[in-house]
Amino acid sequence: MTDVLAEKRGIQRERCKTGIEGLDNILNGGIPRGNTILVTGSCGTGKTTLSLEFLVHGALSGEKCLFISVTEPSSKLLANLIPYEFFDDRLIEQGLLVFIDMPALYERLGLRKTEFTFEEIHMLVNAISGIVRELQIKRLVIDSITSVCFQLKTEEKIREFILKLGKALSDFGCTSLLVSEISPAEQRYSMYGVEEAIADGIIILGNLERKGDLLRTMQVVKMRGTSHSRAKYVLDLTPIGILLVPLLKGGMGAEK
Ligand SMILES: Nc1ncnc2c1ncn2[C@@H]1O[C@H](COP(=O)(O)OP(=O)(O)O)[C@@H](O)[C@H]1O
Ligand SMILES: [Mg+2]
Repeated sequence: MTDVLAEKRGIQRERCKTGIEGLDNILNGGIPRGNTILVTGSCGTGKTTLSLEFLVHGALSGEKCLFISVTEPSSKLLANLIPYEFFDDRLIEQGLLVFIDMPALYERLGLRKTEFTFEEIHMLVNAISGIVRELQIKRLVIDSITSVCFQLKTEEKIREFILKLGKALSDFGCTSLLVSEISPAEQRYSMYGVEEAIADGIIILGNLERKGDLLRTMQVVKMRGTSHSRAKYVLDLTPIGILLVPLLKGGMGAEK
């Protein structure tokens, strides 16, 4: 049954609770399970932090979670997790939180060229979905999809990669966040424009200058399979995790 039909009949899709309370409220319970979401924003807006928190909460609730790091070595990411009160390094020992470096995966598959062929794209999709199936991964983050797209180059190849991977992940009931990097002045939600058209959902993180302060903001622009608020929220990175406050409340964040 399509999402629209299911919703009309009042059938709720099972939710993947992000564990970020404000975000779960915005989404009326969480991300519809199996969705592939684009988490987009410029540098320093909190994309990696939000993605890691999504995985840690999943792992804490017993779900197997995978972080595929494309640009940064995963050892560096782990260091970012240590200060969080909710992080428990036993999650890694227990295999609930798994980190893989994409360059190592490319190497294993013999992918060395600057532009992948369609055959190589299929190899990559099969490799990632194979890991997800074998390890029974329920939450996946690819940070960033923009760096993968750089190796794909054409819209056709990017479309092929994201659609094929998204379909495989959804079939396994795996909920995925694809991190998208854009420049601060970018009018689109993704570098190539294709990623945003295909994704089931888009969460945009941004910066907002207010009374001499640079605030971080978050907005859910699109989310298939659920109704949601499209309001902009102020995003606070704290040792207990991400806190979200509506931008219109409390005066400080109110838009002109
Ligand atoms: N718990 C925290 N408290 C305050 N600042 C944090 C915390 N965690 C991360 N940061 C800061 O937030 C910024 C954004 O981090 P990051 O998630 O890496 O952004 P992005 O992936 O969008 O580039 C970084 O500059 C980092 O130092
Ligand atoms: Mg990042």
